[in-house]
Amino acid sequence: MNSIQSTSNLADSTPLTLVVFGASGDLTRRKLIPAIFQLWCQGLLPEDFSVVGFARSDKTDEVFIDELSQFNPEALFCRGKEGDCGGWERFVKRISYQRGGYDNLADFQSLRSSIEQGDSAGNCIYYLATHPEAFESIIENLGRSGLARKSQESPWARIVVEKPFGSDLESAKRLNEHARAIFDEDQIFRIDHYLGKEIVQNIMVLRFANGIFENIWSHNFIDHVQITVSESLGVAGRGGYYDKTGAMRDILQNHMMHLLSLVAMEPPIALTAEAVRNEKVKVFRSLRPIPGDCSFKGVLRGQYTEGVVDGQHMPGYLQSPDVIANSATETYVALKANIDNWRWSKTPFYLRTGKCLPIRCTEISIHFKDVPQVLFNRPPLGPLKPNVLVIRVQPNEGISLEFQAKVPGPEMKIQPLKMDFGYAESFGSAPPDAYERLLLDAAAGDATLFTRSDEVEAAWDYVEPVIPCCTHDCENLLYYPAGTWGPAEADEFIQADGRQWYLR
Ligand code: BG6
Repeated sequence: MNSIQSTSNLADSTPLTLVVFGASGDLTRRKLIPAIFQLWCQGLLPEDFSVVGFARSDKTDEVFIDELSQFNPEALFCRGKEGDCGGWERFVKRISYQRGGYDNLADFQSLRSSIEQGDSAGNCIYYLATHPEAFESIIENLGRSGLARKSQESPWARIVVEKPFGSDLESAKRLNEHARAIFDEDQIFRIDHYLGKEIVQNIMVLRFANGIFENIWSHNFIDHVQITVSESLGVAGRGGYYDKTGAMRDILQNHMMHLLSLVAMEPPIALTAEAVRNEKVKVFRSLRPIPGDCSFKGVLRGQYTEGVVDGQHMPGYLQSPDVIANSATETYVALKANIDNWRWSKTPFYLRTGKCLPIRCTEISIHFKDVPQVLFNRPPLGPLKPNVLVIRVQPNEGISLEFQAKVPGPEMKIQPLKMDFGYAESFGSAPPDAYERLLLDAAAGDATLFTRSDEVEAAWDYVEPVIPCCTHDCENLLYYPAGTWGPAEADEFIQADGRQWYLR
C-alpha cells in the first residue's frame, strides 16, 4: 500500500478505536480532534469508530467533550459533505475519557477492559501525544497490559509517536529499541506533521512527474538551495518544553531534515514506503558531518530578546514563563549543509529557522546558476537575477518560478517576473490539515509519510554534534530583537559565500 497513490477508504472496515495519550494537551484539542472529526465527516473512518482520551487529570467524559468543544469551535464545522454527518454533536457520542497514569499498569488494564467491552472493540491506534518523557512508560504498559498486539495479529494495533523522537542519538536509539521490543517496525508510526502537508507531498510530484525539472536538478544547474522555517510566534506558553528542546531539536532535526531529504533524494525505485524512505536516509548519510565545536562558523545560533512582532510588543525569550534564568537555548539556527554525493557536490543547502521572526513562512527556494555574463547579463542590462524556483510550504501554499522578461516598449529593459501556482486558486480551497492525511494513513497502515527508525537515527547523527554546547555568555550565542530576521551575523553568514537570503 502506498500513500502517494491513494489512501484507502476505511469506512466499511473493522471497528477502530483511537486512544489518545496526552488527551488534555494542546495538540489533542488543536490538531488531533479537529482532524479526526473532519475525516469522520467525510465518511473516511469505519462506521464503528471511537476515540478514547487518556490523561492524568481527573474529569468526566462530559467535561472532556466540553473542553474540546470550547477550545476551537471554528475547527469543528464539517467540511466536505456539509450537513450529512450530523456534525459535532453526533461525533462527540463516540468520544470518552479515561483518567490514568502513564506508568500505572492497572490504569492500562482498565483501559483494555473498557476497550474490549465497548462497541468498537477491534483495531486500535495508540497515539502518543504526551510529553516525550512519558513515551517509554506508555509503550511498556501497552505491552504489559496486552493492549499491544504483534503486526500479524488481527485485529491489529499500531502506535503513532509524536516528535521529538528522542532528544539525541542515544535516546532515539533507546526509544527505538524499546518500541521494537513490543511492536514490530511496521506498527510504529513516527509522526512529523510536515510530511502530511500537501505541498511537501508535492515535492516528489514536481520532481518526478514533470519532464523539465529533474533534468536540471543537480549541481550542474543549481547554485544553492535555501530552506527557511520562519515563525512569528514566540514560545507561547510552551517555555518548559521549548527550553529543553530549542530550535535544533524542535524544527531542524525533523521538519527541516525531511524537507531537505525530499529535495535532495534520488528517484526511488517505486512509490512504496520502503523505497521512498531508503532514498531519504541515503541523503542523511551523505551529509558532511559538522564538527561538534561550538565555535564552528558553519552554524549560527541565536536567541530573541524583547521586540515588536506584527505591531505587538514581545517580551524576550528569557522573560517567557517556565524558561530558566540565563537559559542558553537557541530560538534561531542557521546552518550550511553540504551533501557529499554525486548530484549535490558543491551545491550547499542553507537552512534557517527561528521564533519571533517578522512573519510566519516556510519556503524552499532553489537558486539556479547565473546565465553567462554576455548579451543581457552585463551592463547596462545586467547583472540579471538568476532564476529561482520557490516551493511555498505555508502560508499561501504553492510553487513559483522567477524568470526574466522584457518590459514592453521600444527600449530593451528586463524585469524579473513570476509564474505562480497557488493551491487555493487552482484547486478551489486551501489544502486540508496535515494531521488529517497522516491519521488516515496510520489507519490504513501506510508508513510512507512517517519516519523509519534508521531515518530518525541518521537525522540525529547529523544534528547531534551541533546541538548547543553554549552557555548564556558564549560568544557563539547571538541575540536578535523579536520581529527581526535573526541575528545580524546571519546576513554575513551567507554573504561570506557571495549569496544572500532570498526571503527577507
Ligand atoms: C512543531 C513545533 O513541531 O511545529 C512548534 O514543536 C512549531 O514549535 C510547529 O511551532 C510549526 O508547525 P507549523 O505547521 O505551524 O509550521
